[in-house]
Amino acid sequence: MKIGIDQLSFATTPYYIDLVELAKARDVDPNKYLIGIGQEKQAVVPPTQDAVTLGAAAAQKLMTPELKERISTVLVATESGVDNSKATAIYIKHLLGLSMFTRVVELKEACYAATAGVMMAKGLVAADPQSVVLVIGTDIARYGLGTPGEVTQGAGAVAMTVAANPRLLELDQVSVAASDDIMDFWRPLYAENAMVDGKYSTQVYINFFLETFERYQQMTGRQLADFAALLFHLPFTKMGKKALDALLGDRDDLDSRRLREALTASQQYSRQVGNLYTGSLYLGLLSYLQNGHAKAGQRLGLFSYGSGAEGEFYSGVLQPGFEKQLNDVSADLGGRQQISISEYEQLFNSQLGLSAEDVTFDTSKDPSPFWLTGQKNHQRQYKANN
Ligand code: CAA
Repeated sequence: MKIGIDQLSFATTPYYIDLVELAKARDVDPNKYLIGIGQEKQAVVPPTQDAVTLGAAAAQKLMTPELKERISTVLVATESGVDNSKATAIYIKHLLGLSMFTRVVELKEACYAATAGVMMAKGLVAADPQSVVLVIGTDIARYGLGTPGEVTQGAGAVAMTVAANPRLLELDQVSVAASDDIMDFWRPLYAENAMVDGKYSTQVYINFFLETFERYQQMTGRQLADFAALLFHLPFTKMGKKALDALLGDRDDLDSRRLREALTASQQYSRQVGNLYTGSLYLGLLSYLQNGHAKAGQRLGLFSYGSGAEGEFYSGVLQPGFEKQLNDVSADLGGRQQISISEYEQLFNSQLGLSAEDVTFDTSKDPSPFWLTGQKNHQRQYKANN
């Protein structure tokens, strides 16, 4: 039976900053951000948005009455969860108006967890081919004002449906996952911002990629010529280049040129948004599909990485008509509003975070489809914008 990703959508916040302005404010050469890191713009999160509202906004783009009937399970991958006990997926399921008879759970392993969701969804669909599993990756990447990681912040969510006879990407049988106990990036329960050993994290990422890809090749016999594109988790777009360079070295032939060109196409959206953590690989997939030379029948390789650490390399084949199973990301990005660095800093410091206080947020300036309206009696308050 064919199983895979049937539809894919993306949502982000209504605001962004220009990283040339951030570079000036931090007294850094703008080319470090634009070329050295490979980022141009960064999504900024108002206090009225969190992992729940962003995840619901991405999933809402896919919803039809027929699909709502068929969703058996909602898997929400996040490392920006809003409760240590209650799953983000419960709130999202409620905001989407899904049936009471829906299985919901939250998944966590840093930026890798959405891929765990896809693999689990594949198993659930194999067990019940009529069912559709909704997989969401939703996050807010926070390192702190003035830190080296600040330029690699970002926010947003992807939503995918996994189903039998998929209209977007049929998953191949073989995938290779690997894990190891590594402290390259983590966030203790008392911390609002990530802790990171930045340079080490990039090295661990590359090692996981090379090792999982090599094992995948041993298991399948597939070579570079078999892939139209290799897609990467993109915490910042230069990271994808570092990984591909580690594989290709100074090769300059048809395969290496095709893969480098495909990487450039896959980086376009992330350059405008920043790190989505769990969703970044899938925003890269969307970007390749909408900006690259994607064609039905092509085999794509996907490398998922989550610090801590876990990596997985898997692949799939693009299906006829895949273009119709995506939302128009360019239009969404074009509709955002640029804000100043001081406005960004003010919003950064206005998040609910770990606060236990009751609060009501002003939602009047936030055009997003769902809001976090505040907190009351230690309970987050959510509302649809309609
Ligand atoms: N013009 C062009 N390039 C310039 C430049 C200029 N004027 N000035 C500096 N650069 C280049 C540097 O040469 C360097 O390039 P290479 O990496 O190719 O050597 C690049 O800009 C970065 O500069 P630094 O080496 O000075 O690095 P930094 O101290 O500013 O930190 C970082 C960069 C480590 C990525 C930091 O932003 C960080 O810690 N980010 C968060 C961690 C992260 O994203 N890790 C990725 C792997 S982990 C993961 O994937 C999970 C996840 O999502 C977090």
